[in-house]
Amino acid sequence: VSENKRSPFDWSSKQIEAAYSSFAKTIGPWWENISNLSPAGLAHDPLTHSVKKDWVHPFTDGLPPERGMDLEPLIQSLLRDLGQDGQVVGHPTYLAYVAGAANPVAAIGQSLAMMLNPYTGTFSTAPAAVQLEDQTIRWLMTMMGWPEQGTGLLSTGSSLAIFSAVLAAREARPAAPGKRRVYVSDQAHHCIGKALFAAGFLPEETAVIVSEDGRLNPERAADRIRKDKAMGLTPLMLVGTAGTTNLGRVDALNDLADLCAQENIWFHVDGAYGGFFKVLPEAKILKGLERGDSLSLDPHKAFCMPYGTGALLVKDVNAIRWPRGLDASYMPPYDAGHMRLEYSDISPELSRDFRGLRLWLSLKVFGFQAFREHLQAKWQQARSTSAALRDHGAFEIVAEPDLSLFAWRLKNDENNEKTKRLFQTINATGRFFLTSCEIKGKFTIRTCILGFRTQQSDLDDLTQWLFDYVEKV
Ligand SMILES: Cc1ncc(COP(=O)(O)O)c(C=O)c1O
Repeated sequence: VSENKRSPFDWSSKQIEAAYSSFAKTIGPWWENISNLSPAGLAHDPLTHSVKKDWVHPFTDGLPPERGMDLEPLIQSLLRDLGQDGQVVGHPTYLAYVAGAANPVAAIGQSLAMMLNPYTGTFSTAPAAVQLEDQTIRWLMTMMGWPEQGTGLLSTGSSLAIFSAVLAAREARPAAPGKRRVYVSDQAHHCIGKALFAAGFLPEETAVIVSEDGRLNPERAADRIRKDKAMGLTPLMLVGTAGTTNLGRVDALNDLADLCAQENIWFHVDGAYGGFFKVLPEAKILKGLERGDSLSLDPHKAFCMPYGTGALLVKDVNAIRWPRGLDASYMPPYDAGHMRLEYSDISPELSRDFRGLRLWLSLKVFGFQAFREHLQAKWQQARSTSAALRDHGAFEIVAEPDLSLFAWRLKNDENNEKTKRLFQTINATGRFFLTSCEIKGKFTIRTCILGFRTQQSDLDDLTQWLFDYVEKV
């Protein structure tokens, strides 16, 4: 209900204060109770790995409500409907997919961004907001060892960051459609296929290199490139992955960078999952990540941000620029004094979410050290947990952690049945949530440790549960 006559949307400061304070009172206890929820969510069926057959759809109204209602009871009912049914990605024993937990300051930053609602497509429309976003990009560049002359943008996630990288590569290495080749490993994320499709690449323009031990083998790639060149094709782009989705593997980035430099191929590094581990001195395995022509990152995975926070860094500023658009007469003019690259000039988006604020504010409030220590903890937790399984004797470690993900299965399980049964049983407990993948016909369980709530004791509970299980069966 509005106290203001201008519009029902034009709340008074008293209304805003009341709404935020009642929101805080409702969300606070829910937030504190996250650890008591079920990580896979109540709607999850561990047998089918889908939604339970008897799940009741809570949103059935065909028409929007004609009259408004109070916010507080709505938020309470939303927390009931949304807060338990779905997967709780920030839960301490959510060890599935590649998902981190979102920090609360990011949500406050996003709320501030949305209340201010600046237009960050161009500098002149919101100079301070755009500069804040520039600064956030520069922080990411520094963390990644990126040269200062590069640039970047914040995206909704890595899928769209990679789409922009594909467009940049296409721009920087012009070649005849049909004759181009893009090299990816069989372990590369499927969003690369989507990006190539959206950018107009034909299916035969993707060369899939069979991985070895989950990693893109540079010699195999070099061999394929040589053969393609001999056939008159143009090698255009190669994608290396810093942390694959299945096994968490890091490709031989430095060797791939050498190969791409030698062959004049655009080198994209998909750092969606693993890129942020670059800030750890122990992550020597990520050497070469900084040599990419472009790098995609997902702060919404390892960097404690909510979904919708991705990033792309590039070195060749001109390649990322879209062919004009801003010269439309209805657009604000270029800021002649600054001669800057406008975000709406380098992103497929025109109007855009002011994503930078949530990242900037979180770094300011917690400090970079907190993020580094968070990553360090995940790094160590993955190592100690995989070592505990290895040392026990009943488990085969399919992939030791390169970063914070490891994969395993039961030993002596040729037809996969024992591991599948274990997988279903552990997820049916509702205490832990893990996902699986298939590696060369082997059913494999993944354990991806990224959430800031996950403590070593949670992982010790997991290993103890597994030891008890193998004892019993
Ligand atoms: C290695 C890797 N690359 C790319 C992506 C796609 O990222 P997004 O979901 O942010 O679009 C993912 C998502 O899990 C991923 O794990």
